Amino acid sequence: MTVTLQRDVPVAIVTIDNPPVNATSQSVRAGLMTVLEQIDADAGIKTVILAGAGRTFVAGGDIKEFSAPPVPPHLPDVLNAMEASAKPWIAALNGTALGGGLEMSMTCHMRIATPETQLGLPEVNLGLIPGAGGTVRLPRLIDPTEALTMIASGKPISASHALRLGLIDKMSDDPVQAAKDLASKAVTTRTLQRAVRPVDQTSFDAVKARLHKKARGQISVGAAIRSVERAMTLPAQLALDAERAAFLELKASEQSAALRHVFFAERATLADPRCNGPSRDIASVGVIGGGTMGAGIATAFLRAGYPVHMVEREAGAVGTARKRVQDILEQGRKRGLLAQVQLDSMHNRFRASDRYGDLDEVDLVVEAVFEDIAVKRAVFAQLDEVTKPRAILATNTSYLDVNQIAGAVADPARVIGLHFFSPAHIMKLLEIVTPDKVADDVIATAAKLAKRLGKIGVLAGVCDGFIGNRIMCSYRHEADVLLLEGALPWEVDAAMREYGFAMGIYEMQDMAGLDIAWATRARRAETAPRDDGYVTVADSLCENGWFGRKTDKGWHDYADGQAIPSKDTAKIIAEAREMKGVSPRPLTPDQIMDRILSRLRMEADQVLADGVARQPSDIDVVMINGYGFPRWRGGPFFTAK
Ligand code: NAI
Repeated sequence: MTVTLQRDVPVAIVTIDNPPVNATSQSVRAGLMTVLEQIDADAGIKTVILAGAGRTFVAGGDIKEFSAPPVPPHLPDVLNAMEASAKPWIAALNGTALGGGLEMSMTCHMRIATPETQLGLPEVNLGLIPGAGGTVRLPRLIDPTEALTMIASGKPISASHALRLGLIDKMSDDPVQAAKDLASKAVTTRTLQRAVRPVDQTSFDAVKARLHKKARGQISVGAAIRSVERAMTLPAQLALDAERAAFLELKASEQSAALRHVFFAERATLADPRCNGPSRDIASVGVIGGGTMGAGIATAFLRAGYPVHMVEREAGAVGTARKRVQDILEQGRKRGLLAQVQLDSMHNRFRASDRYGDLDEVDLVVEAVFEDIAVKRAVFAQLDEVTKPRAILATNTSYLDVNQIAGAVADPARVIGLHFFSPAHIMKLLEIVTPDKVADDVIATAAKLAKRLGKIGVLAGVCDGFIGNRIMCSYRHEADVLLLEGALPWEVDAAMREYGFAMGIYEMQDMAGLDIAWATRARRAETAPRDDGYVTVADSLCENGWFGRKTDKGWHDYADGQAIPSKDTAKIIAEAREMKGVSPRPLTPDQIMDRILSRLRMEADQVLADGVARQPSDIDVVMINGYGFPRWRGGPFFTAK
């Protein structure tokens, strides 16, 4: 029985018990219909309390049912029946009230939640819109602009935010008891009978424009916006019918299939025996190097609750590194992401020094010093001397050979790659790079850490660039070849954005800075001769001191932070074409994307064939979460199906 009815007259408690997250599976829907009949037939019951068993209310629909034909009763019918119930219902929320769960609670006459509850309508992330009245009921309970933000962004909100908006009526550590106390006072106005809340059209339109822009081709966002607008103008029943029709259309769409694929792919990356065996305990963490990456990595660990000790190479650099971490934390506070108590706790857990010996007690060290094999090997040799023998030593290298780094340590079994992405405290992806001699319990520890840091860990083998950077280098080179053939950087960037990428490959390089890759290329050229296909344009930009955004000139020129086509870059490209004797021809956005995507896929196939990635869906996850590949297209392998 996934739905039970407990009589405690004049109150009845309906409990949904469908582990692990009380999803609105068919048995739950049918169970609710049954108890509804019993409740309405029972004159002793005056008020109904709806709760979820265990750690959560209802976290959404049963995604496993998505691919099969729907079996009645359908959720909208169940919710309409709940709302039509002769008795007032109070929802007692804890854990998460998401998707169908929040929609269900909105048919109730009151909502009470624990302070930790998260409330949201994340359907848009699966290429859908709420399909059981969410877009029609929410703007009747809260300000329509806030409703629009919740529905079209898919982001959940906290209970205290929900209380401020009026989505819940009360916060309580024991919402079932609070509901009992309020049972006799429960209001009986039904949500659909309420008028849509008055709207400030200017702010509504501004939010709408921002959401449209962020959607970058994802159709569910536009559908969500239209559905909220219909809820504001049409009679409730017509709006409900239109919402359902739009939901069903989206459910059958390629985009929704792609987004569901990514949902499962992201949860399958660590389904590997090496990730699930015994692991080592990590109580405290060391970070070596407090530059861009070290500061972000330290922040990520601080946020996850670890004490962090950062080591820089000299006293002067310690102050700069410490300030970098403090600035990131302060930004978090200003944006309202961190409360003062959290900030204080992080400051208390953070230490920085120039002494490697301070790392004698830590259980994990993440190295993020300059990308230079000699420097890294020297750092690991020092770490070998000062750390506990079972401490895990990780490198954040982007391209270097992790086997060689591990060779600097007496016991290479404790060395692994933890490749974070920039900014490391924000980006979700973490490549877990497994050198030949790494111990299984070190891999399992890294997998657990990824989860604790709130990141998506993906296993990668050792090679130049691992999964992501290796593939990116390959299509970046193809883009450079396109420049020689006739395209211009801003045309390539525009084509990639049009396809749905978060950013074009040239804007991305300008943002990261061109100087580091330039130095890497120069170093490589010392040992590996360049082939005939080498494109010199990026080197020429750097020789002029044009390193991207930080110098206001790179592939693009920058004025007030805005990228504009650069005549100087165009001239350098023209010279490179002349040197190669190429006469340029115009390339359409489709031609540009065909070339970039086929190069991307070829390299992805090779990464798989080499065993660097475990499965195609891991590559989809990496390209989406690390390189801005459009999520709604499902990743390079999904699109190639
Ligand atoms: P960075 O130049 O901003 O920072 C390096 C820091 O390491 C500097 O603060 C420097 O003082 C310190 N350092 C150098 N030698 C040291 C030593 N022996 N002991 C202690 N500290 C030392 O460089 P960034 O960008 O943070 O990169 C660090 C590593 O992360 C590199 O291996 C890089 O390839 C990798 N990485 C960089 C990404 C990026 O987007 N910047 C992304 C992912 C990985």
